[in-house]
Amino acid sequence: MRAVVITRPGGPEVLELREVADPTPTKGELLVRVAASALNRADLLQRRGMYPAPPGSPKDIPGLELAGTVVACGEGVTRFAPGDEVMAVVGGGACAELAVVHEREAIRRPLGMPASVAAAIPEAFMTAFDAIVLQGGLASGQWLAVDAVASGVGTAAIQIARAIGARSVGSTRTEAKLERALSLGLDVGVHGVTADLAKKAREVTGGAGVAVGLSLVGGPALSDMIAALRPRGTAILVGLMAGAKAELNLVTVLQKRLHVVGTVLRSRPAEEKMAVARAFEDRIQPLFEGEAPLLRPVVDQVFPMEAVAEAHIALEKNSAFGKIVLFHG
Ligand SMILES: NC(=O)c1ccc[n+]([C@@H]2O[C@H](COP(=O)([O-])OP(=O)(O)OC[C@H]3O[C@@H](n4cnc5c(N)ncnc54)[C@H](OP(=O)(O)O)[C@@H]3O)[C@@H](O)[C@H]2O)c1
Repeated sequence: MRAVVITRPGGPEVLELREVADPTPTKGELLVRVAASALNRADLLQRRGMYPAPPGSPKDIPGLELAGTVVACGEGVTRFAPGDEVMAVVGGGACAELAVVHEREAIRRPLGMPASVAAAIPEAFMTAFDAIVLQGGLASGQWLAVDAVASGVGTAAIQIARAIGARSVGSTRTEAKLERALSLGLDVGVHGVTADLAKKAREVTGGAGVAVGLSLVGGPALSDMIAALRPRGTAILVGLMAGAKAELNLVTVLQKRLHVVGTVLRSRPAEEKMAVARAFEDRIQPLFEGEAPLLRPVVDQVFPMEAVAEAHIALEKNSAFGKIVLFHG
């Protein structure tokens, strides 16, 4: 099969499309012909040699999410059969014509949705669902605050919040992205820094603060998220684009009895990832289907797999609204 290979640590120029051995599905695994995959920040870090693939995943083939069709099944597979259309988060190796996925980590693709659209779902929507609903406990009537609201995970989080009857306030540094986020279901938008987001979050909640604060950028934004929370609220740290260090007001954490949670999907034990995938398929996947779906994947641009270096450059520019997808043909 052809796959994108990280030939050595470095910039986008180290990515090469090469002929490599086909993967073989083992017990419980599906062999999937990948029609499309999508990019993540982790791919950029892995390409630079700063984020090795977890054990069991290809070391030099990037790609954390895919949409495609099952072409073969390993021993003992019961949930899927050849011909089924699936999507999944994987530990790596999605940037290839074929990939293996454990059947319990695979999710049925929304009916009629092209792979180049469905590829934008798994990582963004599963991360958002796991963070704000499963870990943050966001519920109907509550408020969610999100920084980098126009990112893949941000655009998923505001849609999930709306779908479960919660409201959201979110910030972006790029004014042009705000209108689009509002049209997706963001209730209150802030163009600016996260200190402005914290102020607005308290304002829209009548001074009370939000139930859940999702920080996709970390650094100083985490302390702003803490300032945005209501008593017993939860700040969830998902990314570190603004830095790995923050100064927190521990008086606020203590007196408001806050929860501060860090989370990562990729390095979790397989059983935990399977549990998230199963909950996602039950509760979130159906919301992409029907005549008026409550959720929709947000695709900024689609590149052919051959143009993977250009796609990495586009992601690094921070100009995308939602996801950058690779079409594998
Ligand atoms: N923990 C996990 O399991 C997990 C899973 C998926 C993603 N993540 C992390 O979650 C974060 C979001 O991922 P994503 O794929 O949704 O991102 P994305 O779609 O690539 O969007 C990132 C956006 O964040 C904003 N941004 C970049 N650097 C920033 C900074 N220093 N300060 C403030 N805003 C900044 C930019 O938008 P503006 O125009 O608004 O500046 C950029 O377009 C990343 O850190 C990623 O690594 C974690």
